[in-house]
Amino acid sequence: MCGIVGYVGDQQARDVVIEGLRRLEYRGYDSAGIALVHDGVITSAKRAGKLANLEKAISEEALPAATVGIGHTRWATHGAPNDVNAHPHLGADGRVAVVHNGILENFARLRDELERAGHDLVSETDTEVAAHLLELEVQSGADLTTAMQNVCRRLEGAFTLVAVDGQDPTRVVAARRNSPLVVGIGEGENFIGSDVSAFIEHTREALELGQDQVVTITRDGVAVTDFDGNAAEGRRYHVDWDLAAAEKDGFDWFMRKEIFEQPRAIGDALLGRHDEDGLLQLDEVRISDDELRDIDKIIIIGCGTANYAGMVAKYAIEHWTRIPCEVELAHEFRYRDPILTRNTLVVAISQSGETADTLMAIRHAVKQKARVLAICNTNGSTIPRESDAVIYTHAGPEIGVASTKGFLTQLIACYLLGLYLAQVRGTKFGDEIGAVVRELAQMPDRAQRVLDQSDAIYALAKRFKDEKSFLFLGRHAGFPVALEGALKLKELAYIHAEGFAAGELKHGPIALIDQGLPVFCVVPPRGRDQLHDKMISAIQEVRARGALTIVLAEEDDTEVAPYADVLIKLPIVPTLLQPVVATIPMQLFACELATLLGHDVDQPRNLAKSVTVE
Ligand code: F6R
Repeated sequence: MCGIVGYVGDQQARDVVIEGLRRLEYRGYDSAGIALVHDGVITSAKRAGKLANLEKAISEEALPAATVGIGHTRWATHGAPNDVNAHPHLGADGRVAVVHNGILENFARLRDELERAGHDLVSETDTEVAAHLLELEVQSGADLTTAMQNVCRRLEGAFTLVAVDGQDPTRVVAARRNSPLVVGIGEGENFIGSDVSAFIEHTREALELGQDQVVTITRDGVAVTDFDGNAAEGRRYHVDWDLAAAEKDGFDWFMRKEIFEQPRAIGDALLGRHDEDGLLQLDEVRISDDELRDIDKIIIIGCGTANYAGMVAKYAIEHWTRIPCEVELAHEFRYRDPILTRNTLVVAISQSGETADTLMAIRHAVKQKARVLAICNTNGSTIPRESDAVIYTHAGPEIGVASTKGFLTQLIACYLLGLYLAQVRGTKFGDEIGAVVRELAQMPDRAQRVLDQSDAIYALAKRFKDEKSFLFLGRHAGFPVALEGALKLKELAYIHAEGFAAGELKHGPIALIDQGLPVFCVVPPRGRDQLHDKMISAIQEVRARGALTIVLAEEDDTEVAPYADVLIKLPIVPTLLQPVVATIPMQLFACELATLLGHDVDQPRNLAKSVTVE
């Protein structure tokens, strides 16, 4: 999830682009870069690290005056966050410059083709192939708009591309497929941005592009086509938000924005990792198949929400692979002298990749010669760097301190890992794996259907805003969901909340049930190991003692409905995948309740986004 900016007009493009990048820096800050068109050539500058590094560099290098430019702030996906991999990327002769947000799934094939034709690609990115291909097109006589259409037809994956041609000082051309792109319509100037915050200082008139469209902005015009060059239209609208709201895409909190981004984030986590038949392609797992076949134990470590993702993973990985799997809090793991061998796979889950407890735990595992695989959202962070392999979750930057899209994409990465191990070790047939992959592919739509119920969940938060205590119950994969629901409420609303495995109730916690106590109950899908019926019994038990039940169940589950004081309907999904949809109402509830109580949702008291001390 990178930030991209484009400008054509009468102002100094350097200033407009840098200011736009500053507004978009929340989208990624691994590196930043700019390209300007002037005097028939392109001048570009790029630096690893925050935008301030680029600003310092260009103040020293004094970029030339120009009125056409593009810029980029990076959230690394392909290649380490260094100067070379920073955008913009240039074609072989430096005539075309490109910035990109997204993932080009077929870049390896295209790169191969370019290299065989004698091109020297200098970075590890997928983006550079687009720069070379565009340059070939303009060198053979196409204008940049036609070049973009021709190249986009060859690209697979999700992308926003923005390009300039050094020999055409009149235009910036951009294209969009499954990645965000908006045009800002000014007077005598036009803009391109990942979102409106890139240009809201200059204009509030915006044009949203549809899928598979190309837009050309010039000083006085905006023209939209599809990838075949047919004229097309975007949706024009007026932006009412102020600048602060614009960065949050109109949401009041980054956290709420991130909750609503989850369908996209899930889609990105799956992108390019399986083929149409459900065959998994996890190239980033750089542990050989032979070594993966030799693994005799998996230990999953993480802290807080990441640990709950690990708990869900245990159910899935053991079921699909039959490898014994333990889950442990990273800070406990290291100090208990765990038994680790070369055949132990330690899976470290961390959104930030910098959590000290998890980092120390993997260092301990590495010393004991175990294999370490990280599941991480932050490219180039310490935990993946010190691991043997990494599966990036591709959620994009998570700004809200409480993890939301980080968690759901950790679940997706865990499922992919479990299925991949099953594929390599042959513990599941290809068609069985394919069936689960097809279910996963539907998760973005299913998550969206849960988000569509947000108003009802907000009404629930209003109803319960004066409560002092909540319980959360679940079974099987729903148990970690209960723990996560309770954690979200504790950390955001500062309300006492506890999660339990429903079967544990009668062993003590049932004593907590009192008249009117709200109890969230995650009901497993029907038809598996009687879990569903046992959960209904637990609901009846707490209800009989006065609890008020808020039940999350499959949308056509008529058996549980009579025992629900409040019913939240979940899309029908397999048991192991249910946490993806069941967690969302809990996130919405906690976010709204904390808002109603007047708390700072993005920065709850006493917490930090990245816990870099043990
Ligand atoms: C809770 C939350 C924390 C983190 C935990 C681990 O909402 O965000 O519990 O999950 O501190 O952080 P990472 O995943 O960065 O290692």
